[in-house]
Parts: sequence; structure tokens; C-alpha cells
Amino acid sequence: MTDRAQNTLKMKKLPPIFLSGNGTSRYLECPIIQSPLAGISDQIFRKFVRRWAPKALLFTEMVNAKSLELGHGEDKVIELSKESGPIGVQLFDHRPCSMIDAAIKAESSGAFLVDINMGCPVKKIARKGGGSALLKEPELAQTIVKKVSKAISIPVTVKIRLGWCEATSNPIDFALGLQDAGAQLITVHGRTRRQGFSGTADWEAISKVKKSLDIPVIANGDIKNSKDAINCLEITNADGIMIGRASMGAPWIVGQIDGEIKNQKSFTTPDARMKLILSLEHLKLLVSQKGNHGLLIARKHMNWTCKGFKGASELRHKLVRARTPIEAIELIEKELLKFT
Ligand SMILES: Cc1cc2nc3c(=O)[nH]c(=O)nc-3n(C[C@H](O)[C@H](O)[C@H](O)COP(=O)(O)O)c2cc1C
Repeated sequence: MTDRAQNTLKMKKLPPIFLSGNGTSRYLECPIIQSPLAGISDQIFRKFVRRWAPKALLFTEMVNAKSLELGHGEDKVIELSKESGPIGVQLFDHRPCSMIDAAIKAESSGAFLVDINMGCPVKKIARKGGGSALLKEPELAQTIVKKVSKAISIPVTVKIRLGWCEATSNPIDFALGLQDAGAQLITVHGRTRRQGFSGTADWEAISKVKKSLDIPVIANGDIKNSKDAINCLEITNADGIMIGRASMGAPWIVGQIDGEIKNQKSFTTPDARMKLILSLEHLKLLVSQKGNHGLLIARKHMNWTCKGFKGASELRHKLVRARTPIEAIELIEKELLKFT
């Protein structure tokens, strides 16, 4: 982190982010946000993220609004009022009626805000008109935001990409349209849909969106640590940042970045023992909630977390082959004995 970057941030101190819904005003004390991650940001993962970042805004995995309207996928939005910090429900679809119905359900489950996904590049979703396909339909995108904002009293936010492809990319006009329609905050992932996850996120393009809007703008894409966070904030002048992939296997990263930026002192990254304890806890929670299927979900988390220490690669190799939760638990416990 450069001295200049450190000093600028010290002076700026990133103020809380204010959001006003259709009747309720809310604010986010922590400007570092955990991104929605399908297949990852479930209730157990969020519990870990909150351990290090109790005040950060977290998101559910994206929820299919049509399914929710029909009564499926409710497990993703259940008991949100029990979350110990702000929780956003992220919805995707292209039908305003389904979005309204799902947003009402999210609000009554205790969501802090409703976010509309206009960036998901997955073909299965975009082909049906949801996620990033809305980037090609600015009028429909605005209609969805307008109708959902009218139907609920909590804030409505939107997560976008820079456009469908470079040739048609016009994120400023697109975002201005959403702002006019009632969006309270916009997160911009600095890539087009066509880019997928290739190349690098264009923080300069995010800065232009930020300059053009009155509502808060969150910058997203390729922020892996505090140095990236500070550089991104310097370039974009965004009101906050959102962290995605860097949190996979590292649920402490949002808290780490927030702490390092605020306190200007470095954070002690969990060591091998802590990583093993965390993996064991994650595995046990998933298995207690989902039975043997929990082991399948835990595999990817253990594989991401058990890195960067002696014997980690051998352990990972054995963990992916463990056939039962007990076998996996014993492997981690055995590894932990080396640290006692
Ligand atoms: C496994 C995975 C799942 C994702 N799921 C979602 C999602 O449900 N909703 C969403 O808006 N973005 C989703 N994203 C995109 C991220 O939220 C984020 O915008 C993107 O990864 C760029 O940020 P990063 O460079 O910090 O990872 C997902 C990304 C990954 C890798």
C-alpha cells in the first residue's frame, strides 16, 4: 500500500453509506461488502464472514424470483431476521410480477435490502432474459426497478456489469436509468458480460459511472487485498467496494480489508491451525444441516481454506477422497494434532 494511498484514505475515512427505501432509511456502517456467490454465500458461510466483519452487508446466493413466487428456494431466504447483520436478498428474473412477489417475500423474511441481479453471465439464466440479459433491455430493467421499489419499503439496489459486450457497453446511461427508476445503490462489476471473468476489471469505467450518479456506487472486480481495495477506491472514488472470489476459502477477507483500511494496521491472517479449525467447523455445520450431502459442499470450502501451510496439499488430496463425513473429520483432527 503506498503512503499516498494510505494518507488519502486516512483523510477520507469512508463514511457510512445511506440508503433510503420507499419509506425506510438505512445505512451501512461498513463500506466493504461481501458479494453474492451462488453455491457459496449460504447461511453457514455468512456466519463465518460475520465473525470478522459483523457490520458488513452480506448477500444471499442469488434467488430465482419465479421459483420463489412458486414457493421453491425458500430455504435461501428463510429466517433472515435472525441474521446478526445486514443481509441483502439477491433476485434474478426478467418478469416484473415475479420480481415483485419475490421481493415482498424477501422483505417479510427480514431482508435489509433487495438486490436485483443484472450481471449474471450464466447462459442458462441470460438465455431466459434474466441476469446480464437485462443489460440489453434498459427499459425492462427500469420497469423492474420501478415496480419492485414501489412494492416494498426496504431499499432496492442493483448489481450490473459494464454492458453486454464492449461494442454496446453504455454503463453510465444504463445506471442513470436505474437511478431514475428508484435504485438506491448500484454495484458495478468492471467487466462486460462477454468478458466473463477474463481480462481485468476496468476500474476507470466504474469511476465514470460513479461520477455520473447521485446514489452510492460500489466498485467490484479483482479486489483481492487491502492494497487492491485502496487502489480501487482511489481510482473509482466509489462509496464502497465488494469482494467476491477473494473470500472463497477466506471468509475473513472482508473484515481484514475493512480493519486494515480503517485502522491502518495489518491483520494477522489465520495460520495453519486456525484454517484447520475453521475447516472442521465448516464441515461439521454443513453435515449437521445437510447430512452426507454437506460433505460434498464442504469439499470445495476445505480445498480453498486448507492452503499455504506445510502438508496442506497432501491433506487436500486426502480430503477430496474422503467418502464419509467421519473420515474427513478424522483427517483434519489428525492434522490438528501436529499443532498441539
Ligand atoms: C462462484 C461464483 C458465484 C457467483 N455468484 C454470483 C451471484 O449469485 N450473484 C452475483 O451478482 N454475482 C455472482 N458472482 C459474481 C461475483 O459476485 C463478483 O461480481 C465477481 O466475482 C467479480 O468480483 P471478484 O473479482 O471480487 O470476484 C459469482 C462469482 C463466482 C466466482
